[in-house]
Amino acid sequence: MNIIDIIEKKKISRELTKQEIEFFINGYTDGSIADYQAAALIMAICINGMTQNEILNLTLAMANSGETLDLSEISDNIVDKHSTGGVGDKITLILSPIIAALGVPVAKMSGRGLGITGGTADKLQSIPGYNTEISIDDFKRNVKDIGISLISQTLNLAPADKKIYALRDSIGCTNSIPLIASSIMSKKIAAGASNIVLDVTCGSGAFMKDRKEAEKLAKMMNLIGEWAHRTTISIITNMDEPLGHAVGNSLEVVESINFLKGDMPEDVKEVVFTMGSYMLKLAGKGNDLKQNREKIQAVIDSGEAFEKFRELVIRQGGDVSFIDNPEKFEKAPIIVPVVSRREGYVQSLNAEVVGKAGVELGVGRKKKEDSIDPRLGFIFVKKTGDYVDDNEVLAYVHAPDAERAEEAVNRILEAYDISSLKQIKKNNILEVLY
Ligand code: URA
Repeated sequence: MNIIDIIEKKKISRELTKQEIEFFINGYTDGSIADYQAAALIMAICINGMTQNEILNLTLAMANSGETLDLSEISDNIVDKHSTGGVGDKITLILSPIIAALGVPVAKMSGRGLGITGGTADKLQSIPGYNTEISIDDFKRNVKDIGISLISQTLNLAPADKKIYALRDSIGCTNSIPLIASSIMSKKIAAGASNIVLDVTCGSGAFMKDRKEAEKLAKMMNLIGEWAHRTTISIITNMDEPLGHAVGNSLEVVESINFLKGDMPEDVKEVVFTMGSYMLKLAGKGNDLKQNREKIQAVIDSGEAFEKFRELVIRQGGDVSFIDNPEKFEKAPIIVPVVSRREGYVQSLNAEVVGKAGVELGVGRKKKEDSIDPRLGFIFVKKTGDYVDDNEVLAYVHAPDAERAEEAVNRILEAYDISSLKQIKKNNILEVLY
C-alpha cells in the first residue's frame, strides 16, 4: 500500500477502505508519512468529504493510534463532555468542578486553541504552576482521589488526532464534519468515558455556521458514539456571539472563578445548567432535568463547586492563591476601552470577527508553534439586546502594546452592529439530539 495512491483515490472522491485509513493513521503517527502528504490527504478529505463508514474507520483508527484508557476501575459512570469550539467558551472550566462536586468523576482531556476558537488547555495553563501534562497514572489517581482531572492532549491518547489537529489548523481545514467528528470522538473513545455530552456550537464563531450543518455534525457524532457503545447526547448551542463577557485565557479563568462563586452571566449559565443536567442524567444521578438543575445551583450556592476547582488546581500543581485572589493574575500592559460611536441597541456582536481580532492580538495562535500571551483578550460590557449610549463603553481591549490595542479596537467596533431597533437576547440552547 502506498500513501500516494491513497491521496489520488481521495482526490477523485473515492471511498477509502478500512485498511487504507489505518495505513494513513499509523504511518502519520509513526512519522513514516510526511506532513506534506498528510496535508494533501486531509485537504482532499476536507473538500470531498467521507462516507459514514470512512468516518467510523477514521475515528477508530485514531482512537487506537495510542493507548486507550479503561476507567471502569474508577467508576462505571464516568461522563465526559466536549465542545466543538467557540469564542469565549469556558464551559469545561466551570462545568467540570460542578459535576465532580456532585459525585460524578470527571476525567477530561482538552485541546489547545484551534483556529479562532479557544482551548481549555491554554486557559488552564494561564494558572501559574498548573500542569496539564501529567502521566496517565497521575491522571487516573487524581480522578480516583478527588473526582476530577483536566489535562491537555499530551498523554499517548489518540496521538494521531494531536498531529492532525495541529496540521488542520495550519492548512485551513478546521471546518470539516468528518475531521471534527473523528477528532472529537477518537479522543473521547480513547479517554474511556462511557457517557458523552457534546456541545455542538453553531453560528459565526463556530466551525458550523448554520443549523443544518451543526445537526449533521451532531448526528454523526451520536452515531459514532452508538457504534462505540458510548451513550452520547449532542446539544446544539448558539455561538453567534462570544459566551459570557471575557475572551482570552486568564480573563476567562477569572470569569469562571466568578461564576463558581455565583456571578453567572445568563448565556453561560444556560449552557452550563443544560449540559450539566444531561451529564447528571447520563451518570445515573437523576432523570429529572429540572431537579438536576437545582442540584447544580445547590453546589454553587454551598461553595462546593468552587472548592472542587481549588482542589483540582492544587492537585495539578497550580498556585491556588490566584484562584482565591483572581486580581493576582497579571494584567496586560495596555487596557483600553472600545467606545460606541452611536446610540441604540446591540443587534449582534459577531463572534467570528472577535475570534479573528483575538488571533491578531495574540490570544490564539496563527501557527502551531506560536506562543500565546495569557494576559491578552477582551471584556465585553455590552452584548446583544443591550442598550448603549453614544460614547458609552462597549468593551475593553487587553493588549500587548498601543499599536495592537488600536488595531483591536477598530476590529471590535466592526464586530458590533448597533441600531435603533429593539433586539431580544437569543436563546443559547437550540436543540438537544439523542
Ligand atoms: N475540538 C476537537 O477536539 N476537534 C475538532 O476538530 C474541533 C473541536
